[in-house]
Amino acid sequence: MTPPPLLLDARGVVRRFAADAGDSTVLGGIDLEIAEGDYVALTGPSGSGKTTLLSCLSGLDHPSSGTIRLAGEDLSLLDDRRLAHLRRTTVGFVFQRTDLLDELLVLDNILLPAHGRRGRVPADVRAHTMRLMERLDIAHLAGRRPHELSGGQRQRVGICRALVNRPRILFADEPTGALHSESVHEVLSVFDELNAAGTTLVVVTHDPAVARRARTRCHLVDGRLAPSPELTTAAAAD
Ligand SMILES: Nc1ncnc2c1ncn2[C@@H]1O[C@H](COP(=O)(O)OP(=O)(O)OP(=O)(O)O)[C@@H](O)[C@H]1O
Ligand SMILES: [Mg+2]
Repeated sequence: MTPPPLLLDARGVVRRFAADAGDSTVLGGIDLEIAEGDYVALTGPSGSGKTTLLSCLSGLDHPSSGTIRLAGEDLSLLDDRRLAHLRRTTVGFVFQRTDLLDELLVLDNILLPAHGRRGRVPADVRAHTMRLMERLDIAHLAGRRPHELSGGQRQRVGICRALVNRPRILFADEPTGALHSESVHEVLSVFDELNAAGTTLVVVTHDPAVARRARTRCHLVDGRLAPSPELTTAAAAD
């Protein structure tokens, strides 16, 4: 059987940050292949580089060296306009700290990535978004301001916003960290359904229950991929 095509291919990804005390190397040369349709859990201790890696893989940040091919495109060769287009059409990103705009209502925050050329949101996108909001139990919050929401509600708004454009690959950075168990269950079943329909998922998590749902596990230690610990205990946590 032919293996599924690669959606993401990272080679030798290094990320350094300049600091007063000298450069620090946060990612020390990551090689990672993600096939279309995979469900990847990324675990590792706090500070091991998970968020930094996700930012590089999704084109939000640029590695100091190495190459990342996403959906057939070498990200380093794209100018800002083409990178923004690729990100808008292909990538969804759930941020670890949900960055909602307080001057916009919750619904407008969610629909922000969906605005077309003339500033209109297509009717089918609006309908799909409303279904997703019902599903994640945030439909009743559509007319509220983000600062009026709880941490868990904000997190679910962030998940909804990442999904409005039906991304081919969803990067989610601790998407269930602020949720109580019922909401975790709902978010995980939304992820399962997306994956069953072909969406590729890359989920950073400290929660072994979340990591267990994935098909592929990656574990980062000090900016390098390391063997994944067993998930029978709290091994995926710090
Ligand atoms: N913009 C930056 N400038 C300097 N150092 C940074 C920057 N971003 C991240 N780092 C450093 O890189 C390291 C890894 O950070 P990162 O946020 O990727 O870790 P993480 O694995 O996501 O941790 P957590 O589980 O706590 O979210 C940390 O030591 C952090 O201080
Ligand atoms: Mg992080």
